[in-house]
Amino acid sequence: MSRWLRRTPGATRPRIEFGADYNPEQWPREVWAEDVALMREAGVTVATVGVFSWARLQPAPERWDLGWLDEVLDLLHDGGIAVDLATATASPPPWLHHLHPEILPVDADGRTVWPGGRQHYRPTSPVFRRYALELVERMARRYGGHPALAAWHVSNELGCHNVADHSPDAERAFRDWLAHRYGDLDALNRAWGTSFWSQHYGDWSEIRTPRRVGPGTFPNPTQQLDFARFGSDALRAETAVLRELTPDVPVTTNFMVMGETSGMDYASWTDEIDIVANDHYVFPGPHARDELSFSANLTGNLAGGAPWWLMEHSTSAVNWQPVNRAKRPGRLAGDSLTHLAHGADAVCYFQWRQSVAGAEKFHSAMLPHAGADSAVFRAVTGLGATLAGLAPVAGARRVPARAAILWDWPSWWAAEQPFTPSTELRYKAEAFGWYRAFADAGVRVDVVPAGAGLAGYELVVAPVLHVLGPERAAELSAFVDGGGHLVATYFSGIVDDDAHAVPGGYPGALRDLLGVRVEEFAPLDPGATVLLDDGSTGDLWSEPVQLVDPAVEVLARYTGGGTDPGAPDLAGSPAVTRRPVGTGSASYVSTRLADRAPLLGRLLRRAGIAPELPGELCGRVELVRREGFRFLVNRGDTPVDLAPLGEIGSLAGLPTGVLPPHGVTVLTDVPGDAVTRSSAPR
Ligand code: GAL
Repeated sequence: MSRWLRRTPGATRPRIEFGADYNPEQWPREVWAEDVALMREAGVTVATVGVFSWARLQPAPERWDLGWLDEVLDLLHDGGIAVDLATATASPPPWLHHLHPEILPVDADGRTVWPGGRQHYRPTSPVFRRYALELVERMARRYGGHPALAAWHVSNELGCHNVADHSPDAERAFRDWLAHRYGDLDALNRAWGTSFWSQHYGDWSEIRTPRRVGPGTFPNPTQQLDFARFGSDALRAETAVLRELTPDVPVTTNFMVMGETSGMDYASWTDEIDIVANDHYVFPGPHARDELSFSANLTGNLAGGAPWWLMEHSTSAVNWQPVNRAKRPGRLAGDSLTHLAHGADAVCYFQWRQSVAGAEKFHSAMLPHAGADSAVFRAVTGLGATLAGLAPVAGARRVPARAAILWDWPSWWAAEQPFTPSTELRYKAEAFGWYRAFADAGVRVDVVPAGAGLAGYELVVAPVLHVLGPERAAELSAFVDGGGHLVATYFSGIVDDDAHAVPGGYPGALRDLLGVRVEEFAPLDPGATVLLDDGSTGDLWSEPVQLVDPAVEVLARYTGGGTDPGAPDLAGSPAVTRRPVGTGSASYVSTRLADRAPLLGRLLRRAGIAPELPGELCGRVELVRREGFRFLVNRGDTPVDLAPLGEIGSLAGLPTGVLPPHGVTVLTDVPGDAVTRSSAPR
């Protein structure tokens, strides 16, 4: 990571890139020139080309047709538009699966996943890989020197539809992956705890992927966790070819940090690419825009604070919800600029011109069915102009917050496995709940990969940090010993990297640091609540927390006021605790709080972290910072008067007086003004 798009020779001025997936193969040639003209009108600077073009580039095993793509690249280049060229491997052509049906994935029931959609290949198929790499090599050799080429786009949303493949190829590759991880079968048997249920393996060939087992039972949990790790690892193969043939061209691939997409541990992918890119679609719901902010924040921290590429989002409606609504006026720009606030230096959509045929004909685009004379195209063009005016922001890194929320894909996978104390637990919901509490408090927070290091943070929240090996646990202890404030929630520190429970009482690896001990979990029935003596309520989970270290303070206790008749009576038992450690502290929250704000307020005060916004704006406006710039995002459906900020000047003509619903404005940092004045010194 750390490179950016290769720019056309001579183009030195930094800019915010603007564009979309462009699928010219869906259109007759005559349309291409109009596309380029309208792209220029809209301010488009980059187009992602070729994502689903394999069948057109290689119509038969021995037949290649790249002439049309030469023409498209030349046209775009003549129009001053850079190209993010896909390796075109995302959807194998019919001849390939016809000739080699053995590339088709297999689901957990052993059924073939048939072609007809897209991404119907086994990531581990040597046959698929041979054909795919041949295509990649041809693309790299032919276009590596093309002046329009700004970056390589490996495949598309790797793992979106095929991460869990149970084919014989996957099984072979899984065994190799395991042999590499464990070295020998004894180590694997130990890690997988195969003494349980008579699962001891005597030979590598006996090991399978965790297919569906009989009703009411469940494959080995460590096997499941390793299969998820393996699936995430198995998806990458094309980068090496591109690096070898075109070392000067940066490589990216589009992540899916959004919603409940959980299959890929992107924290383990970032070293292999030059530019972090993400696709984000808004899922309807009352907190949809906060979720966008959360995902953008995490993406920015996957990029290590460097600028990243918003590869896809939508101008308006998508086509894959049960009911697909158009975005309200203003949301197109608001959504894009919120990503920009969190570090995106390229703002792109799926797709440029709305398809008239195929599965996505009802998905919005920059140029909709209605044509250029449309509200969407006018909004697109308006945003293009705004982004041009925001060129000074390009290259500015995220300004780290003083607080962080730790994010960990293996914990997501393991905590939501079946055969846990409650299958109602939702990993992301806990992390997102804390994120919203920080936003409500008007305090910036970074969502950071759990292994990224805690240097510079003063308050760190570990929501359901379920998988915690000794090294990471030691990092958290060192953080607290160094004066940091840690807050861990229920079901954190419970298992090690092999998904083995840490014995001696919960919360396992964090028990000593938190100074508490729990002998048994007390999960709650769906909908049931517990009442705490500070007036807050919890649901999902409770625990009879014992204090081990006499120094531990109790911040809240359970009362007898729960609504779950089956739950143990925890009246008087500590629910939320805080262990002071030198100038730092380690707090524990043993239930899922309905409202985290009161507790967070106390923890922030104790940590000495104040909001950076005037009180009237806290909660209503999200503040995001990039070096030299502040972004204000209206989180709500009503306009926000920015008067409490005093005299402010914005960039690109963005609002200074009133921020419309979900609107965004960008200000340059002014030392000593209302925002910087109200921030506590670091
Ligand atoms: C993405 C995909 C695009 C398009 C889009 C529709 O998952 O990469 O090709 O399908 O969704 O929202």
